[in-house]
Amino acid sequence: MIVYLDNAASTPPLPEVLAAVTHAMTDLYANPSSAHGLGAAAARALELARGEVAALLRAQPPEIVFCGGGTEANALGLLGAAGLARGRHMVVSAIEHPAILRSAESLVGKGWQLSRVAPAPDGRVTVESVLAALRPDTAVLAVMLANNEIGTLQPVAEIGRALRAAGRKLHFHVDAVQFAGLVPLDVETLAADSLAISGHKLHGPKGTGALWLRKGARVAPLWDGGRQENGLRSGTENLPGWVGLGRAATLCLHNPQAGQAVAALRDRLELLVLETIPEARNTVPATTPRAPHIASLLLPGLPAEPLLHALEARSVYASAGAACSTRAHGPSHVLAAIGIGERDAVLRFSLSRLTTESDVKVAALALREAVDEIASVVKLRRRDSKP
Ligand SMILES: Cc1ncc(COP(=O)(O)O)c(C=O)c1O
Repeated sequence: MIVYLDNAASTPPLPEVLAAVTHAMTDLYANPSSAHGLGAAAARALELARGEVAALLRAQPPEIVFCGGGTEANALGLLGAAGLARGRHMVVSAIEHPAILRSAESLVGKGWQLSRVAPAPDGRVTVESVLAALRPDTAVLAVMLANNEIGTLQPVAEIGRALRAAGRKLHFHVDAVQFAGLVPLDVETLAADSLAISGHKLHGPKGTGALWLRKGARVAPLWDGGRQENGLRSGTENLPGWVGLGRAATLCLHNPQAGQAVAALRDRLELLVLETIPEARNTVPATTPRAPHIASLLLPGLPAEPLLHALEARSVYASAGAACSTRAHGPSHVLAAIGIGERDAVLRFSLSRLTTESDVKVAALALREAVDEIASVVKLRRRDSKP
């Protein structure tokens, strides 16, 4: 039996999503822009899906721009806003996903200046530090809702309120890829201008996502063509994918308690690990406001990759930090930002609403065994390397 605890990297699509995608591929193959009846049926399915995504975010359907994944939705929000901006200064939190960080960095050298706001040691940026980074020419600000490596929630709503109170006219973009789905979300309460979500993080298809663009907020399209999606995302619509995303959004909406159940399992996992592995600790204090599905655990003096292999040998699947920051991709900028070096293993166990109590118990036991196994290898190596 597989224990899959890498849901922050990707979630398995739900059977209802697979059925919706199959139906769209089988029966709704016409181009939604075609003038005939089959095209109209495809266009209707697209608008239904838009309504489903809007409902998940408590937004209006015209505010939803379908995209090809979370990275693209973030790029459209961030770079699209930059494309229309007068100012040439951008502020981002230092612990954003590379989708935001590298997009922001791509503007440096093209007349833009970039400020990165460091988090406090608990993995959260403060409202004050974000406000302090703003300049009169700041045109775009990006702060994520939930960090993908350590799960910490960022004070996005408070930042939005502070911006409004200060009368700041800038584009505030929010990456909600790791937040949307498990916890009810109401974009109105965030006082943001745009927000990105990704289908495969909420049991929908990969390569699907959406940008919520507040009515009145404007972004420039990243490319041009047939001007689908209100001119903001040219290209024939990915109808099967977006229908699947819509179905996934509805399934999330119908399960508003999922976050609480997942958080309880996450807490149980952390407790079991901390009880059975005395040297383990939470990467950030457990009392820090966190997304319900991410347990980030630090194992002092142990290498992460062998631990992951030892877990996999026991059919438990997890990540080191983030899936995209394993050793091949260099050290994690998020862990570095909260003062954690490369000497210690940081493992991310990420749950979903399909995770069971038994998964959690199996994972905790497997980690105990993996730590014993790898610690003895490390000890032997150290002994052998002594002169
Ligand atoms: C916080 C965050 N933003 C953006 C992305 C990118 O989303 P996608 O994989 O859909 O491009 C991810 C994916 O890991 C993420 O965790």
